[in-house]
Amino acid sequence: MTTEPQLRIEGVSKRYANGKAVLENFSLDIQNEEFVAFIGPRGCGKSTILRLIAGLTPITSGQIQHAGGGDINQRTSYIFQESALLPWRNVESNVGLPLRLRGLKAAAISERIRDVLKLWDINHVSNRFPLQLTPGMKVRTSLARGLITQPRTLLLDEPFAALDAIARNKLSADLMKVRQKRHFTACLVTHSAAEAVFLANRVVVLAANPGRIAEIIDVPESYPRKLEWRETDAFQEAVNQVRNALSRVQEDAKKA
Ligand SMILES: Nc1ncnc2c1ncn2[C@@H]1O[C@H](COP(=O)(O)OP(=O)(O)OP(=O)(O)O)[C@@H](O)[C@H]1O
Ligand SMILES: [Mg+2]
Repeated sequence: MTTEPQLRIEGVSKRYANGKAVLENFSLDIQNEEFVAFIGPRGCGKSTILRLIAGLTPITSGQIQHAGGGDINQRTSYIFQESALLPWRNVESNVGLPLRLRGLKAAAISERIRDVLKLWDINHVSNRFPLQLTPGMKVRTSLARGLITQPRTLLLDEPFAALDAIARNKLSADLMKVRQKRHFTACLVTHSAAEAVFLANRVVVLAANPGRIAEIIDVPESYPRKLEWRETDAFQEAVNQVRNALSRVQEDAKKA
């Protein structure tokens, strides 16, 4: 790990046009190749944090620095909850889109498409259209499209929300494997304490109104983590820590 964080979120506040403070004085350093999970009540500003990091919505005050500076779009990829695939394009064409938009040559694009389809184990569906895909394959396609630009930071906004428990676990384990091959920093929004603990080395528990950091829970288990680790006491203890922190946040909100 370098001394300069991959992402430095410094005193960030966010108000949308209606003037309501969604985030207030939010600060967090995220180191290179960290995996940070954000968890918290509905509407506390989790998606807003990701959108601010990706530069998809302007910061009201404060700043977010990406290591190395440069164009944010070149450095981050955002994976939306709904997969956001274009229905009239097949898998291959959806996945290659970000590189076509950047004007890369066709041969270079084809090679990169092959690589990421293989990475996510979806080469066999490259000609299918989104409507012909299972929910799991849709998510894989969306992840392949996110990684084709080789981002430094991958932003994942409840990427597995549409999946059943078995598919979720399989995709979490595959995301872990992919990260061993492609070394990116990850920020994940999830409502699942178990998913957060399994994937992240830090779980940031947020409180709402305005959105702010309530507690940060370290998950010291080294990578890569296997699915069997979820059966251990250490895993369960970390999940309980996150759930207890969430309960405290909810209790405090009731008192306020
Ligand atoms: N474009 C917008 N204009 C006005 N208000 C917005 C906008 N986007 C989000 N908000 C409001 O900001 C707050 C935080 O929204 P955000 O989507 O970041 O929450 P979240 O934590 O991701 O919620 P969820 O768990 O439901 O996905 C909410 O009160 C929401 O209504
Ligand atoms: Mg959200």
